[in-house]
Amino acid sequence: MRFRALVGARVPRARGRAGRASLPFFAIIAAAFGVAAGIGAFCRFEYGSPEKTCILCHEIRGSRERWSKSPHRNVNCKDCHGGTFEALGDNVKRGIKHVTGADYAKLDSVFCLSERQVEVLCARCAKCHRAEAEQWARSGHCKPASVFLKDETHNAAWKPADNCLRCHGMFLEGDMSSIAGRNDLASRRAIPCTACHRMHAEEPLQLFSRNEWTSVPAADLCLQKIVTPDGHPVKRSLDAQNRLCANCHAANAEGIAGSSDDRTPTGAQEGMSCTDCHKGHDMKADPSRGRCPHPQSASRRRRSSGM
Ligand code: HEC
Ligand code: HEC
Ligand code: HEC
Ligand code: HEC
Ligand code: HEC
Ligand code: HEC
Ligand code: HEC
Repeated sequence: MRFRALVGARVPRARGRAGRASLPFFAIIAAAFGVAAGIGAFCRFEYGSPEKTCILCHEIRGSRERWSKSPHRNVNCKDCHGGTFEALGDNVKRGIKHVTGADYAKLDSVFCLSERQVEVLCARCAKCHRAEAEQWARSGHCKPASVFLKDETHNAAWKPADNCLRCHGMFLEGDMSSIAGRNDLASRRAIPCTACHRMHAEEPLQLFSRNEWTSVPAADLCLQKIVTPDGHPVKRSLDAQNRLCANCHAANAEGIAGSSDDRTPTGAQEGMSCTDCHKGHDMKADPSRGRCPHPQSASRRRRSSGM
């Protein structure tokens, strides 16, 4: 009883007085600590080396190992993936995933960037590789995905299927039935930088394979066997760049030279690599190397006119 009376009588008043006096004081101290910690964390994260920032969490360090052997080993992670504020949303999501348990084994082997991340990241390449980016922007490779996937004439002749995305729109998420209904395809590049380049690799010339959702070094790509319409094999250049181009600029299933999108040089130019003539990211051919060796220039015109 005595206890209750004491407590009952005094505590409310005491609490009331202490609360009035210390709340602003504690709030100021807490805020000061918060701001200092925030600035400290920001500086550490924004200006620290990968070892002190990103790598802290990437336990298996697979991406870092491959980055450290790549031509970009002196480029900081954040110059590509974005700094603290640029990638705030991504960083928060990763922090949550890190705490709730991410599948690191998967992270090491799978191309994990989302469609949006690819779009943002490829825009950052231009900061350091202006010439290449400007040339690419002039080429057909920079056309929006809608040019390929929403061409009514082409779609009437060849029904759009998942396979189309292999060569244009490889980073679009979903399958053709969901993608066909999207109305933002005019703002998605059909063939961005990372279609032909992989950053976390010793060898940056790699073709993104949508089927495997990872990139394959150009030198390891298969080269289709090409024959003339009367069945004679056509000699092809085995160099890595030719393999890369020919995987998209490909012939029909029978491998007939000039069929479908094939541009294999024949005749006097047999055996030459595409990049012997098509140099630079605008893909313009050097006219001094000879006239168009492609037997099928006419087929492009046919297709353009809808046949
Ligand atoms: C708090 C721990 C943590 C830190 C710090 C961290 N990451 Fe990650 N990161 C993760 C986790 C967890 C994932 C896997 C997310 C998932 O499974 O989707 C991830 C995934 C990624 C991916 C794959 C794409 C994605 O968003 O899922 C990239 C790229 C990446 N991190 C880059 C970075 C960079 C660059 C930094 C430094 C600025 C960084 N990370 C710092 C935990 C972290
Ligand atoms: C030159 C730009 C660039 C730099 C620098 C860079 N990345 Fe990446 N990163 C990419 C691209 C592009 C991808 C998509 C896969 C690829 O191209 O290798 C990627 C993919 C990733 C992934 C997904 C898994 C994978 O390896 O494919 C993680 C995680 C990642 N980066 C983390 C980092 C970290 C950590 C650093 C710094 C140690 C870093 N990146 C430096 C451009 C870069
Ligand atoms: C912060 C600047 C920076 C950014 C961003 C950047 N790079 Fe680089 N890149 C470099 C540097 C530095 C080199 C090394 C140049 C050298 O070795 O001469 C390089 C080299 C390369 C090479 C040539 C490698 C070789 O064979 O020598 C390719 C291809 C490349 N970058 C593509 C890309 C792509 C694609 C992106 C965007 C995903 C990108 N880079 C983003 C700075 C950057
Ligand atoms: C990922 C698939 C893909 C790869 C790899 C590829 N191309 Fe293309 N290329 C295309 C598509 C699709 C077009 C059609 C663009 C259009 O309609 O304008 C095209 C267009 C072209 C054109 C026509 C000119 C232009 O700018 O439209 C040339 C020339 C060309 N590519 C050369 C090459 C060379 C050389 C390589 C190898 C270094 C290559 N391409 C690699 C898909 C690819
Ligand atoms: C093996 C790779 C590949 C596949 C698969 C593919 N294409 Fe293409 N597509 C190309 C190439 C390469 C060109 C450029 C041809 C040229 O200019 O010689 C092209 C050109 C086009 C064009 C002409 C664009 C323009 O600028 O006029 C359209 C439209 C198109 N493709 C739609 C499709 C559709 C729809 C599918 C699926 C039914 C498809 N493609 C499947 C590689 C491919
Ligand atoms: C259609 C395929 C393709 C696309 C798309 C592409 N590149 Fe390339 N890139 C190449 C080829 C082929 C080379 C020559 C590779 C070599 O020398 O081994 C190259 C080389 C480079 C180099 C090295 C240049 C040098 O002088 O050594 C840089 C940097 C580069 N690309 C940046 C980019 C950037 C940035 C983008 C996007 C704006 C891009 N590339 C898009 C095919 C492509
Ligand atoms: C001997 C030099 C040479 C070689 C090798 C070569 N090309 Fe061409 N290519 C040209 C010339 C020149 C043109 C321009 C023809 C024209 O405008 O009609 C051209 C045109 C093209 C076009 C059409 C451009 C358009 O707007 O109509 C494409 C696509 C193409 N080449 C792709 C390739 C591919 C893919 C390879 C490798 C398999 C290749 N070329 C090999 C010289 C060459």
